[in-house]
Amino acid sequence: MRRSGVPALAAAVVLASCTTSVTPVDLPPPDPTVAPPASTAVEEVIGEFGAPGIGDRLYPELGNGGYDVERYRLELEVGTDWSVNAVARIDLVPLENLSGFNLDLAGLDVESVEVEGFETVAFEHQSRELAVDLGGTAIAGVQISVTVGYSGTPRSVPADAVPFRPGWQQTDDLAYLFSQPDGAQSLFPVNDHPLDRADVSLAVTTPTGVEAVSGGTVVSESRGDSGDTVVWEMTDIAPYLIPLAIGQFTLASDRVVDGVRYDVWVSDDLVDLPAVDTFEIQPEVIAFFEQRFGPYPFDRAGALIVDDDLGAALETQTIPTYTATSARWGDVVIAHELAHQWFGDSIALEQWDDIWLNEGFATFAHWLWLEERFGFERYDSEVEAAYRTLSGIGLTESGVTPAVAADRVRAAFPPPDDPRASDLFNRSVYERGGLALVALRDAVGDEALFDLIRTYTQRYSGSSITTDAFLALVDEVLGDEPAALLTSWVVDVDIPALPGRGLVPPR
Ligand code: TRP
Ligand code: ZN
Repeated sequence: MRRSGVPALAAAVVLASCTTSVTPVDLPPPDPTVAPPASTAVEEVIGEFGAPGIGDRLYPELGNGGYDVERYRLELEVGTDWSVNAVARIDLVPLENLSGFNLDLAGLDVESVEVEGFETVAFEHQSRELAVDLGGTAIAGVQISVTVGYSGTPRSVPADAVPFRPGWQQTDDLAYLFSQPDGAQSLFPVNDHPLDRADVSLAVTTPTGVEAVSGGTVVSESRGDSGDTVVWEMTDIAPYLIPLAIGQFTLASDRVVDGVRYDVWVSDDLVDLPAVDTFEIQPEVIAFFEQRFGPYPFDRAGALIVDDDLGAALETQTIPTYTATSARWGDVVIAHELAHQWFGDSIALEQWDDIWLNEGFATFAHWLWLEERFGFERYDSEVEAAYRTLSGIGLTESGVTPAVAADRVRAAFPPPDDPRASDLFNRSVYERGGLALVALRDAVGDEALFDLIRTYTQRYSGSSITTDAFLALVDEVLGDEPAALLTSWVVDVDIPALPGRGLVPPR
């Protein structure tokens, strides 16, 4: 599903160039209850093969063009050796007349690809692309169902963007997903980009005694000869935000507060970790954020805490994923991942290079939480520490000349809206992105700032956002001076001063 703030990119229904005369008419909306008339259209229209990438500026090869996924139905049978036997049924709507298209799938052995209504489907799986040749034309706007049978042992994928391999993580006792930005394809065939969100039903069968945990809502649980099966239903989710962990887990807490259910799942080995108790603070964090950001966008929150040492947490939708390492960071990281449920999950990116819209907001939010808990001085000291690093003040204080310090920070910290492809999660994205909102708060005050943020979440939740669209919103709600200020913080090469705080970059 694409509910984009930029209709031109999202709803481009392009008629393929073809030799027969086809009139570009307004296509009827897809009706999933009606069987696709694909077979009758084969002689009339010749489609083109969908583009191998979705059009991401930073990562042109990510995702796929030509279609929009509505739903993934995944059935995974997991073995004791972490091998999977799987069927993925994918309902997708062509955005143009298609002769075929790619899905992203890294590794694994594809055994079959079938498409309802197409008799002569062929496929080729190379590296990370599964190319499906329909042997006919799928008509723009008319949903088709693709069924992929596959098996193998999932492996995390290499990525330029991050200093580890995203996707399926495996230890002796545990497997889990940590997919940002493009690791969902380590487990299933997918349009692996946040621009194409979809509904997901995920059925996982595990050997008896092994538990699977995911997000959204559990719709069924059953025991069979081949193991235990749990089915989850997730709505409107980007592929990288699908939570999944398989191993020995305990439900440490399952409170319902103000209609939100807080399930805390913990690797059995970690149940006695004191950090697990910290998660009891979650309803307070959400109540605090709701006053500033507007209603919490889901009916579940919680935590999935896995016994691994990866040094990060991930804002998986409705149940963020923490490792033993990141869970120890306490309520700062909890606040950060919960803030992402508004910024990143409910409001999704259209382009990865706008990642500051996720991370800058989540950083600002966890600073606000620190202010709430420990007072304004704590917020202030976080802001100052970030500014000293990002501006180079810290360098000049240790004897570096201002000119050299300015050069070094220019090289190390690109502007938040322009991260390098090899360094998507640069500190600038987090901290100068957060400082941008601090500067805006300094300039317009709390009432105007949080009005803006509530307008933002109200207008864009369930949709996608770009930096340009956000700047236009700031202009509309707060006026052109605040919009210019924010632009200097996220777009300009050099970090601006924070005049109210006496913080000026070395030059
Ligand atoms: N998005 C995660 C967060 O901020 C962190 C994260 C995911 C990350 N992948 C990363 C950080 C790679 C650094 C590198 O909550
Ligand atoms: Zn984050």
